[in-house]
Amino acid sequence: MTAHRILLLGPPGAGKGTQAKRLSDEYDLDHITTGDALRQNKDMETEYGTPGEFMDAGELVPDPVVNEIVVAALEDADGFVLDGYPRNLEQAEFLSDETDLDHAVFFDVPEDVLIERLTGRRVCDECGANYHVKFDQPEEESVCDECGGELIQREDDTEETARERLRVYRENTEPVVEHYREAGDLSEVSGEGTPDEVFEHVRDVIEN
Ligand code: AP5
Repeated sequence: MTAHRILLLGPPGAGKGTQAKRLSDEYDLDHITTGDALRQNKDMETEYGTPGEFMDAGELVPDPVVNEIVVAALEDADGFVLDGYPRNLEQAEFLSDETDLDHAVFFDVPEDVLIERLTGRRVCDECGANYHVKFDQPEEESVCDECGGELIQREDDTEETARERLRVYRENTEPVVEHYREAGDLSEVSGEGTPDEVFEHVRDVIEN
């Protein structure tokens, strides 16, 4: 059987990263995430400025920078779960020239829940593991269960920047979701419920 090629779509805070990690473990897939790749290179100088300048404002990083990350990651991947890309129609077109997809899954989550998830998220400064002050607490406050690193708030997870990211999502990325929906290629699942419950929905989509 060939390895799965899965795309996860949804607004900021929908749980794409959370579910991508589970899918990657379950099906032995590469987790390709432009957000993490950009965070690791926030201060890299490009002809457009640094990625961090766009990210901390909640805006999209210019397409050529992001496309390059995706091309390099796809080259090395057999099966993959792609999270955070494509975020506009130009990126979607670029992606369709680079690879085919077996599944595109959209997570539906209401906006008030998204804001609560984003503003309450904490991430490990060392290994990047995700937590939430209410929904996914570490055993010891502010300490990563996995590596003992310090848990911090992402700079773009303040309420003001989270709302700007949602605005950018509606303007740029909702047309991408519509594009896959119109092509009949989109499976839509509820992103509410516990991470385990959401994962069951996703697994149903992948296996049926
Ligand atoms: P990126 O890192 O991709 O952020 P995002 O898309 O805004 O997504 P998030 O990581 O915020 O949310 P998620 O859906 O992964 O949710 P998560 O699982 O973490 O992008 C950041 C920035 O990089 C962008 O703003 C942009 O500047 C730039 N960028 C990235 N890709 C780009 C591209 N292609 N083009 C241009 N620029 C790009 O969950 C969120 C929280 O909720 C966590 O605390 C988690 O514990 C909790 N949670 C998850 N699931 C559940 C659940 N079922 N119940 C309760 N809590 C839950």
